[in-house]
Amino acid sequence: MGMQIGILTSGGDCPGLNAAIRGVGKALLNKFGGHLIGFLDGFTGLVQDRYVELGPAKLSGILTRGGTILGTSRNKPHKMPVGDKTMDMTDAIVENYRKHSLDALVCLGGGGTQKNAFRLAKAGLNVLTLPKTIDNDVWGTDITFGFDTALGVATDAIDRLHSTATSHHRIIVVEIMGHRAGWLALGAGIAGGADGILIPEIPYDLERLANTLIERTRLGKRFSIVAVAEGALSKKMAEKVAKLAAKKENAKNKDEKRKASKKLAEFHAEHMDHTIELTKKLEEMTGLESRLSILGHLQRGGTPSAADRLLATNLGTACAEALADGAENAMIAVRNGQTVAVPLEEVAGKLKLVPPEHEWVQSARALGVSMGD
Ligand code: F6P
Repeated sequence: MGMQIGILTSGGDCPGLNAAIRGVGKALLNKFGGHLIGFLDGFTGLVQDRYVELGPAKLSGILTRGGTILGTSRNKPHKMPVGDKTMDMTDAIVENYRKHSLDALVCLGGGGTQKNAFRLAKAGLNVLTLPKTIDNDVWGTDITFGFDTALGVATDAIDRLHSTATSHHRIIVVEIMGHRAGWLALGAGIAGGADGILIPEIPYDLERLANTLIERTRLGKRFSIVAVAEGALSKKMAEKVAKLAAKKENAKNKDEKRKASKKLAEFHAEHMDHTIELTKKLEEMTGLESRLSILGHLQRGGTPSAADRLLATNLGTACAEALADGAENAMIAVRNGQTVAVPLEEVAGKLKLVPPEHEWVQSARALGVSMGD
């Protein structure tokens, strides 16, 4: 009997998930005679034992489809919503894993999923993961699938905003996804020729950005585009976040940690709409009419780019190979152009942020783009 493998997609969806499922499934079935089942709606389906057989017919015709044919959710094994409470459902997951006589569970997800996968590995499951997210912030891999497509969408949006900004001589602020990491805003900002780029890793001083935009007007440039990551922070906000994060880090017990986490989450929730405020302030400071465009989930939907299809397919087939080679508890990642297995223990709980001296940042600065600092 070939390998018995379960697969699921967890966290926010992204283009390329179906290409990855197809890659794992086709290689497993064609090359190793394995058997694949897909759990529905992330870890929830694994808890509730809701699944579909992923045979040849189900794996066909999905390469170019956006989203995930399995459905997804942000529910965590150890905090599963049950009625109006959350419960640790790890035991139910272990039971279902055993019931299906699985040799491994493959989880396609971002940073949160890597953490949850490691928890399940500690509970005795063999878990392999693939790194997906439009944010490109999974630690241990050079790139995640979903990023290239979102980069294309956000860049195209900036291109389109240019002509209307120019016509009206306006500032247009464009909010781009990325709560913790600014890869997408930075990449699309540079590729789309933004004049200011604000990312979470480089706290901003709005006056500095405003001065750059005023200077552009003085030079006869009568419009400006500012790409802002969802999670961009002013210097003041960044200080507050650092304090709250330190409280969480140094908490003496679980209760203190829970309270600190709650405060941090509340702070982020309060600042969800910060780009509205930022746009108004920029208008006041520069005297230039300003508008805001929030790209939101448009960046996550639709057909994956060719590069994402290729990456997701490669990682998927490499995952099947790794399973056949007996890999255990690892993320199949890309490092220096090579597919490698990185132990989940190393990946769990880490984020890949934009280093403030990254060459993309240096490149933006060299062009005269304001990073707001
Ligand atoms: O997981 C990636 C991401 O798209 C982030 O960039 C964004 O902040 C978040 O998900 C939005 O999540 P949701 O779709 O759950 O609102």
